[in-house]
Parts: sequence; structure tokens; C-alpha cells
Amino acid sequence: MARISASVYSSHVPAIGAAIDNGITGDAYWQPLFAGYEYSKQWIAEQKPDVILLVYNDHASAFDANFVPTFAIATGDEFQPCDEGWGPRPVPPVKGHPRLASHIAQSVIQDDFDLTVVNNLDVDHGLTVPLSLMFGQPEAWPCLVIPIAVNVVLYPPPSGARCYALGKALRRAVDSFDEDLNVQIWGTGGMSHQLQGPRAGLINKEFDNDFLDRLVTEPEALSKKPHIDYVRLAGSEGIELVMWLIARGAMDDDVVQKHRFYHVPASNTAVGHLILENS
Ligand code: DHB
Ligand code: FE
Repeated sequence: MARISASVYSSHVPAIGAAIDNGITGDAYWQPLFAGYEYSKQWIAEQKPDVILLVYNDHASAFDANFVPTFAIATGDEFQPCDEGWGPRPVPPVKGHPRLASHIAQSVIQDDFDLTVVNNLDVDHGLTVPLSLMFGQPEAWPCLVIPIAVNVVLYPPPSGARCYALGKALRRAVDSFDEDLNVQIWGTGGMSHQLQGPRAGLINKEFDNDFLDRLVTEPEALSKKPHIDYVRLAGSEGIELVMWLIARGAMDDDVVQKHRFYHVPASNTAVGHLILENS
């Protein structure tokens, strides 16, 4: 049977991808950020996941104001990095797992979550930057990836409670899949940041660290945080953090924290990173 063994949480700042692609990760500005992912690279090389359910948000790259799915799952067998204005990132295509993705779609939709099913999907920095942080620059990504896209770009975003409950439905779906697979679930985006308006550049270290604490120890209570608190306290893009609750919902109530890292700044964003294992 398939099982979810661990979850990874990470910010997804595009400039991090550019630093990797342009070979400047050792520069004084970037070195402390990448140092925080050294443990993670060793850890994942040992874990060898077969499949990652990668929860991320598209930034009006593949979707636009014409189609705004709140939750979407990609069932195709390959996804290309999309052009976000500087040409596609020089990273390998992402290989999917159509059979597991279709099983998840069936299980989760019949479990009362109305996922949008997408076949062709180009993936933006929200998905590729966390892959680069965890795997570096391989010729091909070492495992399969099922993209799960969440709308946090156009109002209204889903609530934290809905995200947490979706995580639980994803767990039931994976647990009922017949193939023996080591599955991880990743939650990406955040932490505090605001990219536009008078508050551009906002960072809230206290909010972020409280979120990291509570995601580990009391995720259900954390999931009840109203969306307006994210926007007010963590900035307009801080709402990306609700996606971390999907990954956390798919884990056991009690988890083992293997790694925690927090660093400011990376571009306009406070970078947070956690690795949690089921025991
Ligand atoms: C930045 C952060 C993001 O999450 C994003 O999607 C785009 C830009 C930034 O800090 O520059
Ligand atoms: Fe983002």
C-alpha cells in the first residue's frame, strides 16, 4: 500500500530559483539561505520518496483570471516549467503519476472535495523552486510529482480549516492506493511577505515563528486562523501559508520534527522551512 512518510514545507521565492540557475548560491546574500537546506538535501537523498504530492500556488502563470480553480490536481504524465517572463527555468520537466493522481481525484471528489482535474499544466516557481531547494540541479528530478494547485492569488482563498480537511482527504486517498509507494506531501509558499502597495516589504517574524510552532504542535487550532489575520499580519502574500495546512493535515497528529529553518530576507520574503516525519 502507498503511505505518506513525511512532509516538507518551504517558501518558493523566484529569486531563489534565479540564484541557483545563475550559479550565485555562494554569494554573501544567498549563502545563509542555502545553508539552511543542506540538511534537507542529505535527508531527502536518504528518504528516496517515490512520489511527492506538491501543494503549491500558480501565480497567474498557467491559470489566469479566466479560470480560477480553488483546488486543482494535475493528472498528466509530464509538466513543463513555464515562462514567467525570463524564459522557462533551465530545470528538468516534472514527471507525474497519472494512475495515483486519478485515484486521488476519484477518492477526494467522492469524499466531498470538488477538485478541478487538470491534464496539461505548466508549472511555475511555486512548484519548481522548492524542488530545486531540496534536490539541487539534477539531470532529471529523482521522483514523480503530482502538482496540487491552490488559489491564493485571486480573492477569495480557501480557509485554513478547508485546507486542513483537504489534507486529511488526501491522506485517505493515498492510504487506499494499491501500489507500494513512499509518498511525501509538500506545502509551499509563505512566509510573511507583501509584494505590492504601501506595505510592500512587510515581514513579521513573530507571526512566522508562532505559525511554525503551532503547525507542528497544534495544527487543528492553527487551521482556524481566519484568512484576514494572514493578510493583516503576514502581508497580502502571507496567505500562501494556508497551503502548509494541507500538507500538515495529511500527516499524523503527532509528528517528529527533523528540521526547522527560518531566514530573512530572500527577496521580499521571510523564508521558512520544516521537515516533519510520521513516526
Ligand atoms: C516573491 C515571493 C513569492 O512568493 C512570489 O510568488 C513572488 C515573489 C519575492 O519575495 O520576490
Ligand atoms: Fe508566491
